[in-house]
Amino acid sequence: MCGIVGYIGNKPVYDILINGLKKLEYRGYDSAGIMLYDKTSVIKKSKGKVADLESLFTNKEDKKGSVGIGHTRWATHGPPNQINSHPHVSNSGEISLVHNGIIENYHSIKSVLLKKGYVFESDTDSEVLVNLIEDIKKSKKIKLGKAVYYALKQVVGAYAIAVFDSTNPNEIVTAKLGSPLAIGIGKSEYYIGSDPSPFLEFTKRCIYLNDHEMAIINLKKGLTLREIKEDSILDPFIEELEHDIEEVEKGGYDHFMLKEIFEQPQSIKDTFRGRLISASTPIKISSIEKHFDKFKSAKRIIFISCGTSWHAGLLAEYYFEELLRIPVEVEYASEFRYRNPIINKGDIVIPISQSGETADTLAAIKMAKEKGAFLYGICNVVGSTIARETHTGVYTHAGSEIGVASTKAFSCQISLLLLMALDIGKRLGTIEESRYKRVIKELAIIPQILEKVLSKSKHIENVSENFLDAANFLYLGRGYQFPIALEGALKLKEISYIHAEGYPAAEMKHGPIALIDESMPIVVIATKKGHYHKIVSNVLEIKARGGQIIAIVSEGDTEIKKLADHVIEIPNCDELIAPILANIPLQLLSYYIANKKGCNVDQPRNLAKSVTVE
Ligand code: M6R
Repeated sequence: MCGIVGYIGNKPVYDILINGLKKLEYRGYDSAGIMLYDKTSVIKKSKGKVADLESLFTNKEDKKGSVGIGHTRWATHGPPNQINSHPHVSNSGEISLVHNGIIENYHSIKSVLLKKGYVFESDTDSEVLVNLIEDIKKSKKIKLGKAVYYALKQVVGAYAIAVFDSTNPNEIVTAKLGSPLAIGIGKSEYYIGSDPSPFLEFTKRCIYLNDHEMAIINLKKGLTLREIKEDSILDPFIEELEHDIEEVEKGGYDHFMLKEIFEQPQSIKDTFRGRLISASTPIKISSIEKHFDKFKSAKRIIFISCGTSWHAGLLAEYYFEELLRIPVEVEYASEFRYRNPIINKGDIVIPISQSGETADTLAAIKMAKEKGAFLYGICNVVGSTIARETHTGVYTHAGSEIGVASTKAFSCQISLLLLMALDIGKRLGTIEESRYKRVIKELAIIPQILEKVLSKSKHIENVSENFLDAANFLYLGRGYQFPIALEGALKLKEISYIHAEGYPAAEMKHGPIALIDESMPIVVIATKKGHYHKIVSNVLEIKARGGQIIAIVSEGDTEIKKLADHVIEIPNCDELIAPILANIPLQLLSYYIANKKGCNVDQPRNLAKSVTVE
């Protein structure tokens, strides 16, 4: 995935584009580029970060203009280098384009254009698109808007684009299919962004384009919205955004990831707002209330997602089977979509996604829908594609998550999934009243409990110092803590590049035990209740082989404390809640290790915040 920005108005455009790109860098950061127009187009592109691009603008003259487009890239076609960076320019040099997405049939379009004499510099599909637009514009002798329209009719794939034609510098044309695009409306000025963060400080009036829509933004004529499939004019729906600019700033923290870890008590409060009012009032999740008949008659629930969201689904399997007594399956969306899975009437499919944009999850949703499943989506980003493609659902309301490694979004997902399981279980009568009350009582104060866990950050930072040279890590957990072991390992590997694997603790003896020696750190999640005594045996097995143990234990633990090299305590709580707490020290451990190793914590190599390609 990539980030695109644009501006047309009366302000100097350079800073708007550069600052906007910096806000979108979480979407991709292997190269960046901008086009600014002031009597003539200036295009500069660079491999690397937006800061590298900035360093190319040494001449004030180059920064002039009040219209322009920009791009920060996560490479799909061709390596991240200057030539493959956007904006891409048509052969005449008149049309420039930035694109987030993939044009699947670019090969066949390219061969037609090659025969017509077009030449291509880059390996990208986007350069093919800009030349297709030019070819149509010139051969049909039509305006840019119409040419974009005809070009998109030929295109198969996904896109959010902004297109500029230097022969008509009062206009930018945008369009969307699959990838997100937001337009900020100012006073006689318009902003474009993959999300609203580039323009939040200037305007909160925003139009989110829907799939198959294009907007022709003309400084003199205003904004015209068209539906591409129907070729009809639409009335734009302008939303008043509630986002705060602080949400997309670091707020005094060194990194977004750290800020987001510390925001978790507040984020979970936001997730529970209006849903869990107090320990003595019933849970209220309106989409469950409304569609309870579906859960009542459900034969099976299938969670589909990717990465961290898949770990949330795995924990939900434990929660839902235990509290609802309905069979549950958890599927990687990328496998599910290609497996021709059996979906029966009465199955509920629950996609989970932070971004609401993940291509594999989206494709799995479409397939499950075609097969007749009821789709109940769990998303963080309001208005995202997945939120719109599902029949109903619930938002996690974790707030903007900018760090590429998911932290607060995951905590909100698992807290919400537990709340859902308790609510549905109570309505079905599959959970004992006393247990329900006990868990609700603890859940209601979870933000305060999390503050307590976070107050141990200095101790966790000290523990991290011991492992900066580790080459491998194992993470072990059982029952509800097994998905947390997987998530802990993923967090460490994605930001510190240390190889880490999560295992169910009992599986260790079936293979991974062969890896254990004095150089192997093993994180053991050994909270009280559940399988505590079994975990003690696993710890003894590790100790006998010289492994270094970092144990996450419940306050007051004595047994594991005697065996472990490092101990991190979390408050005592119900076993259903313990995973929500145990996950926090693992996030902090990964953060401190990665940061002390000098890794780019917020933008780890090769990753992107949401993966909008297969
Ligand atoms: O936006 P989604 O939740 O659908 O994203 C799924 C994964 O790409 C995501 O969780 C990824 O694994 C994160 N980098 C994990 O930190």
